[in-house]
Amino acid sequence: MPHLFDPDYFRGKHVFIAGGTTGINQGIGHGFARMGANISTCSRKAENVEAAIAGFKSEGVDAIGATADVRDYEQVAYALKTAVQSLGPIDVLISGAAGNFVVPALGMSANAFKTVMDIDLQGTFNVFRAGHEHLNTDSPSGASCIAISAPQGLIPYGLQSHVCAAKAGVEMLAQCLAVEWGPLNVRVNTIVPGPIADTEGMRRLSTDEVRKKDAGMGLPIQRYGTKQEIADACIFLSSPAAAYITGISLPVDGGCLLMGAGRMQESLNAAFEASKQASNQAGS
Ligand code: COA
Repeated sequence: MPHLFDPDYFRGKHVFIAGGTTGINQGIGHGFARMGANISTCSRKAENVEAAIAGFKSEGVDAIGATADVRDYEQVAYALKTAVQSLGPIDVLISGAAGNFVVPALGMSANAFKTVMDIDLQGTFNVFRAGHEHLNTDSPSGASCIAISAPQGLIPYGLQSHVCAAKAGVEMLAQCLAVEWGPLNVRVNTIVPGPIADTEGMRRLSTDEVRKKDAGMGLPIQRYGTKQEIADACIFLSSPAAAYITGISLPVDGGCLLMGAGRMQESLNAAFEASKQASNQAGS
């Protein structure tokens, strides 16, 4: 498919993606790499980091990664510092690490709730706070920070109180940073992916059966999204075409949010039932 954007605009720019070694975030890395950007990333598992870096390099760009847990500020700061030493100041900073499991509030401990708050919300603060000093603010369209949010940040779902609280926090954090950092030539936005095919999120939040019989969960655009479509949204928000855009939450969701909790809630309920059955079977 022909691409809307100048194929050379991102050539040689530095894109750091926290959690960029799998799923949607890895897809974002490949999207930017195909535009010629150099990619750095961090995540918890060394083998994922190694594999992702090899993948980005296969696009013909430079790539570097570090093992870091976004919950640990010092680890994140170190990953950012080493990335900048290799690839220079950061033009695009993406916070994508997330954790989720499908469970009612009464089925989770205080530590379970805190775990997701720490990964999604504290992790996003850590990435943006530690990354700020490394941003390249010389470009006329400003440095671009993007948090990967979720429909849970905007509407309530049962079995997702931890994620809803964390992602709502991510939405508000991004808007506050947009206010504080706009004068410093830094734009801060969020992207809200709907159901995206071939991701850990979809494997966890839906069942095989639901996915097979119900392509696209009855969304207005009747299919699951692709990782490339999320990458394209990040590329747009980081391009000169979005130079006057900050503090927005951009759904890339096939109309998922228009439907309210609806079908996604049914899918979450089915995933929870399936996980209960699986653990009953494992216990019997
Ligand atoms: N139901 C209830 N509680 C759960 C749970 C579930 N399905 N899964 C984890 N928890 C609880 C644990 O019991 C623990 O609480 P406790 O100490 O009171 O027992 C707490 O959550 C932390 O779990 P733990 O596995 O020790 O944390 P972790 O830091 O190793 O991993 C996640 C947490 C969220 C990252 C993990 O669930 C995971 O690996 N998820 C896969 C990746 C993912 O979620 N990707 C995003 C898809 S959208």
